[in-house]
Amino acid sequence: MTDSRTPLVAGNWKMNGAVASVSELRAMMDGLSGDRACDVLVCPPYPLIPAFAGAAQGSAMRIGAQDCHFNTGGAHTGDVSPVLLAEIGCSAVIVGHSERRADHGESDAMVKSKAEAVLANGMTAIICVGETEAERDAGKADAVVLGQIAGSMPSMADASNTVIAYEPVWAIGTGRVPEISDIAAMHAAIRSEVGQGMRILYGGSVKPSNAAEIFALEDVDGGLIGGASLKATDFLGIVNAT
Ligand code: PGA
Repeated sequence: MTDSRTPLVAGNWKMNGAVASVSELRAMMDGLSGDRACDVLVCPPYPLIPAFAGAAQGSAMRIGAQDCHFNTGGAHTGDVSPVLLAEIGCSAVIVGHSERRADHGESDAMVKSKAEAVLANGMTAIICVGETEAERDAGKADAVVLGQIAGSMPSMADASNTVIAYEPVWAIGTGRVPEISDIAAMHAAIRSEVGQGMRILYGGSVKPSNAAEIFALEDVDGGLIGGASLKATDFLGIVNAT
């Protein structure tokens, strides 16, 4: 992906989609205008990656994965190697999504190992961070998020290979978004940690109707989109808001 703060709109399909969903991907690609001002990525479930990567070949659409193991291979039942993900056409891997951190007990150290494996295999690491509602209410949002960044970023991470996604846990899939000033403040705090060149995405209930206001913020370089990335019309509406 682009080695700059070109905005990135990344779709995280989570555990959604079916074999027939490649038609939705094609509708998205058909709707991408040539003068687009952003990079566009879709991360479907693992079994759909080969078909999606095949369909996207030669287009501006990039395909990624939602997770990977930190080892390259071996006795890890049910896990997927980053080597294989690169081989089947992934250009990026999401690591440390809050659903992985919560459902699979992934620690910052584990997320860091995964990000290292992603980078070692030539893909972009999209490292997710974000506070829970209780942590925000307790005034700990900045400390939690900056702590996750400190613990999850590999030393080899730089603006050319790594993207941060700030996703307040309480905004994911809920239709609730932080005050625009709170998004701006958190992104500025993250910016001061990661430097001027690295892309910082906002994620959590981004829709075509709120994307433009969020993406207009100085330190927001696009979005990580869940529910609204499943339908071409919604996703293109968000892409066009960059
Ligand atoms: P959402 O999910 O857009 O459905 O809130 C975002 C995410 O979890 O990446």
